[in-house]
Formats: sequence, structure tokens, C-alpha cells
Amino acid sequence: MTRIFNIDLVFKELSENCFGKISMNERLARYTSLRIGGPAWFFVRALCLKDIEHVGRIIKEEELPFLIIGGGTNLLISDEGFPGIVVKLQEAFHKVEFIGNAIIRVGAGSKLSTVVRFCAKHGFTGMEFAEGIPGTIGGAIKGNAGTREGEVKDRLIELSGFDLLNGKYYKIGFEDLNFTYRSSGLKESFFITEAKFGLEPDDPLKIAKRIDTIRKKRKESQPLSEKTAGCVFKNPTGNFAGLLIEKSGCKGMAVGGAYVSSIHANFIVNKDGATATDILKLIEKIRKRVFKCFGIELELELQIVPPC
Ligand code: EPU
Repeated sequence: MTRIFNIDLVFKELSENCFGKISMNERLARYTSLRIGGPAWFFVRALCLKDIEHVGRIIKEEELPFLIIGGGTNLLISDEGFPGIVVKLQEAFHKVEFIGNAIIRVGAGSKLSTVVRFCAKHGFTGMEFAEGIPGTIGGAIKGNAGTREGEVKDRLIELSGFDLLNGKYYKIGFEDLNFTYRSSGLKESFFITEAKFGLEPDDPLKIAKRIDTIRKKRKESQPLSEKTAGCVFKNPTGNFAGLLIEKSGCKGMAVGGAYVSSIHANFIVNKDGATATDILKLIEKIRKRVFKCFGIELELELQIVPPC
């Protein structure tokens, strides 16, 4: 059944109730690191918790699909765009502060790089692993972002957020979350607003040195200056997706403007105006080739919107 709703009325409702700017037909390519994505019916720049509450109410009343965007660094959004409300966190969610001796409280819209720098500057260790991981804290928690040096879950103490679908606020302690490799177990409708992380004091020079080592390694091994969405596939247990893709001869493989990076095979690069369709076709080609060579089904780390 197709739900009929009045576009102008939804726009009016959002504009009258939210403090943040509302736009219609906003091209989402601007908000993704792949620079791909068609228009969103409604785009809300949420300035405060009240904005999120209003969006939640309208989503429920109008039964509209919704998408929460952080840094847009792990997203492939369809060329047709998003048929619903897209919410992006603005100012009020960017604060990083100490709230105890070695505990920081971080707004979900803060960039991971800001948090890494903040901790290093104040002589606290624990977040160096996040050096070079693009995106925001909210997205990083949702996907339990990490590297071999560590994962978000290693330092998370507690998070706060709002369930868009039931309109309730929650504070959830680490022990009540179900983190696994690249997943927090949180529902799609859960909007993280802030989180607390536990750190340890350390010599700022030593921290800076560790960050520098990680930065250099990533610069050498990943196509950081290109338009990508980070690693496309999860590492299969006991193996590496990048290694499998390279060994099956996919480096340099292309569909339209999308290429398998020649630097790191688990990255797809938007080189020549790739479309979401190009990327999806390339993903299928890689999957088939890896399965044919190794009998391993690669699982996506990249979030496809709307899901196929
Ligand atoms: N490898 C290849 N060919 C390639 C790429 C990698 O043979 O084209 C081999 C490497 O030589 C190495 C192994 O695969 O022996 C692992 O490679 P790497 O050290 O680059 O780590 P990764 O497992 O591919 C993970 C994260 C990255 C993170 C790095 C940092 C996943 C899926 N990826 O990559 O995260 O930056 O560790 O150490 O867990 C992301 O999640 O978006 C992401 C980029």
C-alpha cells in the first residue's frame, strides 16, 4: 500500500517546529565522502534535542522513512536519493569536554579526528586508534568503528540517545550494549546524541608519536585523498577482505566511474563521476570473483541506502 501524504504540509510542520534549517530536494552527494547520492525529500539540520523529537513525531505520524547522517563516510546513497526525512546533527552535538578525571563527554556530531586531537592535547591515551578514521562519533559508535589498534567499544562507558520511533530518551551503559565486529547492535531508529569514553593519563609526546605512526601507515596503505567510503567489506573471520580482493585479481577493476583502488583493494574509488549503480555493480563483480577464487562470501561494511 502506498502511503499518501502532503509534501507541503510535512515541510510546513518541520519548518514551524524545528530550530534547524529544513530543505527539500537537498542533494545528498554533498554529505557523503563518496560524493554520491540523489536528493532527499526533506533534509533537517538538527540543532538541538527538540528538533530530533519533532522529527520523530512527524516520522511516526506520516509513516515516513528516515535516515540519520553523521559524517556520511560509510554510506552509499542511491542515485534516486532518499524518499523520506534525512537528519544531520549540527552545533549542539559537537561538544567535547572532560567530566571527570579521565572521562570525556562527546557530542555525537563531533568528528573522530577532533576527539583524537582533544585527548592527545590534554595528555590522555585511549583514542589514538581512531586517528584517520573519518566520520563522526555517532556513526563510529553505531558501526563500532575500529582498526587493529582498537575499536570504539574498547573505550565507551555509556551513551545517550533518543529512539525516533517511540519518542523516548535512553542512557545505556556499555554492559547493556551488544557490540560485535563493526556493529553496536543499536536499532536503526536509535539516534545517539552523546557518549562518554574512559581514558588514561599518558605523556602527550608519546601519544603524539603513536598518532604519527598510525597516520603514516594509513597514508601509505589507503587512498586517503580520493573519494571513497573507507573499507567496503568486513574482514571475514581470520582473513582480510583487501587481501582476498587483491589475490583474486580485482585491483583496478572498474564499472563506469567506479574503480577498485590500486592502493588498497577493499576501497572503491569514485574517480570519474561514478553513480551508485556503478558502485553496486562493481561490488557484485568483486563478490563473485572472490567467491569463485576462495569460496568466501564477502559481507558489506558499507551501508547501502535504501537497502537493496
Ligand atoms: N592487503 C592486501 N591488499 C590490499 C589491502 C590489504 O594484500 O589491497 C593485506 C595487507 O597487506 C595486510 C592485510 O591485508 O596483510 C590487512 O590490511 P590492512 O592492514 O590495510 O588492514 P585491513 O584489515 O584491510 C582494517 C580496517 C580499516 C582500518 C585498517 C587500519 C576493516 C574492514 N578495515 O583494514 O578500516 O583503517 O584496518 O589498520 O576492518 C574502514 O573500516 O572503513 C577502514 C578503512
